[in-house]
Amino acid sequence: MELSGKNVIYEGGFGGIGQCCLKEFLAKGVQNLAIFDLKENAELLESLQKSYPNANIFFVQFDITKKESIAAAFEVAVEKMGHFDLLVHGCGMMDDNHVELMIDINFKGLVLSTFAALPYMDKSTGGRGGVIINISSVAGLEPLAGLSIYSAAKHGVTSFTRCMAHPRYLEHHGVSFITICPGITETELVVNPGQKATFAFAAILAGCLDDASRQSPKICAQNLVKLAETGKNGGVYMLDLGEIKKVTFPVMWTPVFKS
Ligand SMILES: NC(=O)c1ccc[n+]([C@@H]2O[C@H](COP(=O)([O-])OP(=O)(O)OC[C@H]3O[C@@H](n4cnc5c(N)ncnc54)[C@H](O)[C@@H]3O)[C@@H](O)[C@H]2O)c1
Repeated sequence: MELSGKNVIYEGGFGGIGQCCLKEFLAKGVQNLAIFDLKENAELLESLQKSYPNANIFFVQFDITKKESIAAAFEVAVEKMGHFDLLVHGCGMMDDNHVELMIDINFKGLVLSTFAALPYMDKSTGGRGGVIINISSVAGLEPLAGLSIYSAAKHGVTSFTRCMAHPRYLEHHGVSFITICPGITETELVVNPGQKATFAFAAILAGCLDDASRQSPKICAQNLVKLAETGKNGGVYMLDLGEIKKVTFPVMWTPVFKS
């Protein structure tokens, strides 16, 4: 998608990767940028508004764990910008001490937000179509035993997004779906991983992430925005150590139809 002049909603925009993405999207000339997040970062918002005076940048408070809050946020955003072309699901939390919250933020909220967004974008009911980018993780590609709940929630995101990219759906509502799987990226999310492990007795399984190579949120954001421009419907892209790799999946099962 050509980003210049487009309207973007970024969920989790004040997070480590989100902040860098906001700057990259604005540098590409997006017209309206709605930042959905739990808490406002007024200082960053003001500095973005100063740096990009031609863009309309605004914050919408929301809690992705609450269905009504998601619906209300889309209503506010659409009232302010008419329509949106691109939605990024970038909220996240990584702490297996909080099972329900982990699933609600990383998976259930993303699903509910997708279903809240689609009616606004749906070409079959007068919308313009567009692109939805869902941020999964490398832990949504490979099982990460040290953070089992996080990994399972992210596998859910990968699978849900691939399902949403079915050509029958695209033909109907005109919305493309892209999965982004970052590797370890230097943000708050990955601080003290050992304390966030599934089992305290095996904290080392998560704690060892501290010793793994990691990328900067800036390079991750640059690659995410590149994929917003060039990514294909159904594409699953691993963004690790500054590189983009398209992921391919073996077909392990297909239904056998009764004759
Ligand atoms: N940092 C990494 O190593 C890494 C790796 C792979 C995937 N990811 C994913 O990338 C995305 C961004 O992560 P990050 O590293 O920037 O993390 P971060 O902790 O810096 O940002 C997370 C964002 O989610 C928002 N959020 C959390 N709970 C929320 C709620 N209930 N309602 C609304 N917003 C909420 C936070 O306010 C914050 O803005 C997440 O989906 C994360 O799982 C991160």
